Amino acid sequence: MFNRPSRLIHLFAVSLTVFVSLQCRQAAPETAPTGYVAESAMVVSARQEASEIGIQILRNGGNAFDAMVATELALAVAYPFAGNLGGGGFMVYRKANGEIGSLDYREKAPLAAHKDMYLDSLGNVIPGMSTVGASGTGVPGTVAGIFAVHERFGTLPIAEIIRPVIDLVEKGVVVTDKQAQRLQNYRQQIIEVNGDNTLFYNECKTGDTLSYPALANTLKRIALHGRDEFYTGETARILARFIQEKGGFVTEEDLAKYQARWRDPIVFTYKDLRIISMSPPSSGGVTMNQILKMMEPFDLEAYGHNSAKAIQLFTEAARRAYADRNFFLGDPDFVEIPLDELLGDSYLSQRMGTFSFDRATSSDAVSHGAVEIIESEETTHYSIVDAQGNAVSVTTTLNGAYGSKLYCDELGFFLNNEMDDFSSKPGTPNMFGLIGAEANSIAPEKRMLSSMTPTIVERDGALWMVVGTPGGSTIITAVTQTILNVYEFGLSMQEAVNAPRFHHQWLPDMITFENEGFSKSLMDSLKVRGYQINEGRTPIIGKVDAIRVLEGGRLEGGADPRGDDKAVGY
Ligand code: DON
Repeated sequence: MFNRPSRLIHLFAVSLTVFVSLQCRQAAPETAPTGYVAESAMVVSARQEASEIGIQILRNGGNAFDAMVATELALAVAYPFAGNLGGGGFMVYRKANGEIGSLDYREKAPLAAHKDMYLDSLGNVIPGMSTVGASGTGVPGTVAGIFAVHERFGTLPIAEIIRPVIDLVEKGVVVTDKQAQRLQNYRQQIIEVNGDNTLFYNECKTGDTLSYPALANTLKRIALHGRDEFYTGETARILARFIQEKGGFVTEEDLAKYQARWRDPIVFTYKDLRIISMSPPSSGGVTMNQILKMMEPFDLEAYGHNSAKAIQLFTEAARRAYADRNFFLGDPDFVEIPLDELLGDSYLSQRMGTFSFDRATSSDAVSHGAVEIIESEETTHYSIVDAQGNAVSVTTTLNGAYGSKLYCDELGFFLNNEMDDFSSKPGTPNMFGLIGAEANSIAPEKRMLSSMTPTIVERDGALWMVVGTPGGSTIITAVTQTILNVYEFGLSMQEAVNAPRFHHQWLPDMITFENEGFSKSLMDSLKVRGYQINEGRTPIIGKVDAIRVLEGGRLEGGADPRGDDKAVGY
């Protein structure tokens, strides 16, 4: 296209533009906060009680990692919809000295699992088998996760960290409007799985107090005997027996073998940001890396927030990245993932080679497959920054709402249905409509692919943002849009969380918009260019909990008003 001298001039001009725009960006005044601001430490989570317990641990002299342990457990009490002992999650951290890392405490398939375990004799997926009841339960990782964190980075004695959580269980949690609604929505299913004698048989109304004495006993034993209580102790015996009696696969041997894994996070730059996110078995970091690198050469800021051009560019990058996600990604302990290739500059610019603002790319032209999408909010994320500047970003889940709905009354917690995140059968969607490939097929002890995207962002070498969300396959787009909202469009942290979001995941080939904030004329202009709009559903997309570090070190919370989420700090 260019001869050599003009190409050099072109390159020089591009470099100068990039240089000038970076300079301008750095010089631009910081957007004033609109969210809750704290001087030095903050926890943002799905429930005020959990955020307060995290802060209490920090005030008692603990660090962000101690607060992680307490907040994770407190969410199992205050937000049993997703907070858990019977599930798993991922943590990304950045210590005050700049050291980064991540922990995978994702559930694993039990030893008895096999590729076709959810198929009938004709090879069809048995409805509900991977989603409802004990048969969908993977080996829980949460207790291993919190102890791994505490062992490596904790400063306070574990019993001291767990104490306020036990107090919360004993005192009980006041049911909010949204919580009462959720409990009502799932009550029948919970009763079907657990029978009439379950604690959750009782109807809960707004203002009622929810308490679970059995959980207090479980936590007391864990505080006393440590990690082994859950994986080889009395709790392990009760849990394995219970799951098997209910028709599940997790055994004492499975529990005894479970280990959380420290992993290298995915790290990449976007303009002058350095982004640190979760690596496989989560797809979050890889897919966000691909999306942002495909968008990087464009002047997104100039297009305007949620403008047609910004939506087009994001959609086309997401379309291509999700096509790769579904084909290539799985548990790195079991499958070879071509990460260097997938994240390489030349590969990504070649992927965007077919993009034009004139016309939507067809997903059929990007790759094969068929995906239907169901959004929901059944995971939970929390973000923590302590007064020393340590940062922790955690997303944790039971998968579905109240997981498999299986509640162990003797132990006081719900069990996950994370097995459904595997691809039970190529071509057949899971509960999030995701269709996987061989890379995410079931095998004993394998971890199921996740979309959870706990993320930390640096700017000019310093901690700048801690961010994450629930939302199934929409997690990755919600986190990416939140970062762009602040960085490209100058929104405050709270505004960025509040802002309406949209989603595209390759297949089905359509853009889903949240209900508020996208005009008919905007959608019409996209339709004219060949984009299909999901007219049927306007769900909420994500429930983001984030923290931004302001100039001078104060912290701005972004607690999502789509839920009961709350920023607490000092
Ligand atoms: O790991 C995953 O990607 C899913 N189990 C997350 C589930 C989720 O976000 C549910 N709520 N929206």
